This record gives sequence, structure tokens and C-alpha cells, in this order.
Amino acid sequence: MAFLRSTSSETGPLVFAEGIRLRTPQIADYGAWAELRARSRKFLVPWEPLWPADDLTKPAFRRRIRRYAQEIRDDHSYPFFAFSEETGELLGGITLGNVRRGVTQAASIGYWIGEPHARQGHMSRVVPAIVAFAFERLRLHRVEAACLPSNAASTRLLEKSGFTQEGYARQYLCINGDWQDHLLYAMIHNDPRPVAR
Ligand SMILES: CC(C)(COP(=O)(O)OP(=O)(O)OC[C@H]1O[C@@H](n2cnc3c(N)ncnc32)[C@H](O)[C@@H]1OP(=O)(O)O)[C@@H](O)C(=O)NCCC(=O)NCCS
Repeated sequence: MAFLRSTSSETGPLVFAEGIRLRTPQIADYGAWAELRARSRKFLVPWEPLWPADDLTKPAFRRRIRRYAQEIRDDHSYPFFAFSEETGELLGGITLGNVRRGVTQAASIGYWIGEPHARQGHMSRVVPAIVAFAFERLRLHRVEAACLPSNAASTRLLEKSGFTQEGYARQYLCINGDWQDHLLYAMIHNDPRPVAR
């Protein structure tokens, strides 16, 4: 299956979804990333933590890249940018974060797509690829996700990717400046996974 293809490079893990290449963000991505995030601001802000005032600046991006490198070294978090294999264009991002080892062996995913690339099935290819990376490469037992009940795109994405809704957490995350209730989803390593299209 295409989405099980993954490998490593000097700059971190590489994961391949169908027609999409996922790799660790690099400083050279700044221009494409800042442009796509700026264009998508209205589309993304209702669903994300507040953007710091300097978020789209190059110094903040440099700090972000340094933090990502440290988090990968610590086996704490695996951030990826998603690129079209055909055009090389940046499409969005996904992070497998908050990795917990020991008796837990779990992590959480968070994702975004640039508005011009939304509703084209990209994240439906990316999420199963990252789930496969979590279970097969990192040997995790459980992948979790949380989303706002009003986020129809995200709830549909999780459900079609094989996640099960397990709970409802009050004021779970501070999204767009407010503590907001979330639906809690999870997938266990031996849950049935959708077949690649
Ligand atoms: C959630 C998100 C990542 C989905 O990415 P995407 O690449 O557009 O998703 P897909 O095209 O693969 O669509 C996934 C499913 O959601 C549905 N969907 C997508 N956008 C939708 C919308 N605005 N309303 C209702 N359903 C939607 C699609 O139809 C598809 O379901 P289907 O296969 O049954 O038709 C994207 O909408 C996004 O970045 N939203 C803003 C940020 C965000 O919500 N992040 C997640 C926070 S939990």
C-alpha cells in the first residue's frame, strides 16, 4: 500500500501518501509556508490555537524549526509538511505530537491544509499515512485526535480514517483564544484501517 512507504533522510523521517510527500519542515520552506498560511488565515484561525503576533515572521519560523528538530531528537513530536509529488507545492502540515512512551505508547495528531488545497482529498491520504508511520515505524499503540464538535471537516476526516469517537472533554483546548469543548477520537494499532484508494 502506498501509504505504508516511509523512510529516513538526514533531515528526519520521510512518509509517502498517494501523490504526497511528507517531510520534516526546513528553513527553506519559510516562503511557501508563510504565503500559504497568510492566504489561509481566515480559514484556519477558528480551529487553531491563537496565532502569536509574529507567527508568520522569519525569526519565529526559525525558532519553530529549531524546536521541531529538538522535539524529533527527543522522540517527543514528529512534525511534517505535506508536498504534492507532482508539483512540489506545499499543501499543508500534520504533527504527530505529545508522544508518550512507557506503558502508554500513544501520540496525538493535529493537521491543517492550505485553503486553496482544501476538499481535494489530501488529508484523507495524509492521515492514514501518518497513522501507519505511528504504528509501524514508531511502534506506538494508540493515536489520538481531538476536534471541535462544530468542525465537520475534521470529524468526517477522522471517522473515514478509522478513528473511533471515545469521549467528550469539556474546555479541553484553548482554540482561537477560548477554552473549548472537544470530541476525543482514537485509533488503536490493531483497529481496522481503511484500504488505500
Ligand atoms: C480538516 C482539514 C484538515 C481537512 O482537510 P482536507 O484535505 O480538506 O480534507 P479532505 O478533502 O480529505 O476531506 C475529508 C472529508 O471531510 C469532508 N469535508 C472537507 N471539508 C469539509 C467541510 N468544510 N464541511 C464538511 N465536510 C468537509 C470531505 O468531503 C471528506 O469527506 P468525504 O470523503 O466523505 O467526502 C481542513 O478542512 C482544515 O485544515 N481545516 C482547518 C483546520 C482544522 O480544522 N484543523 C483540524 C483541527 S482538529
